[in-house]
Amino acid sequence: MTFVVTDACIQCRHTDCVDVCPMSCFHEGPNFLAINPDQCIDCSMCVPLCPVGAIYSEHDLPADQRHFLALNAELSRRPDWLPLMQAKGPLPDHAQWAGHPDRLSLLRR
Ligand code: SF4
Ligand code: F3S
Repeated sequence: MTFVVTDACIQCRHTDCVDVCPMSCFHEGPNFLAINPDQCIDCSMCVPLCPVGAIYSEHDLPADQRHFLALNAELSRRPDWLPLMQAKGPLPDHAQWAGHPDRLSLLRR
């Protein structure tokens, strides 16, 4: 099992989640973080840290977020998406994206 970062992270990328992860699972892209499923130990500690509720257990993923399971695996394994160990604050325009649905087309790799 793994936990999964979903659509609400795109363009916000708060990064609060990384501070509690004991396995350094979070890998950083330009406007999203992805969890490496090979590293995640399913502790769930990151879930309440995300201010926008973007993190789910793969078993609790909403139907319209299922595609993020494969996307987290793919992106977190990219050699240029390096592990992020410490929170660094959200993206500058995060507030304008809060609550905005369906941002996948905005994901940068
Ligand atoms: Fe890290 Fe635990 Fe979250 Fe997995 S569930 S990403 S191990 S904090
Ligand atoms: Fe993204 Fe939430 Fe972490 S917005 S970077 S999953 S704190």
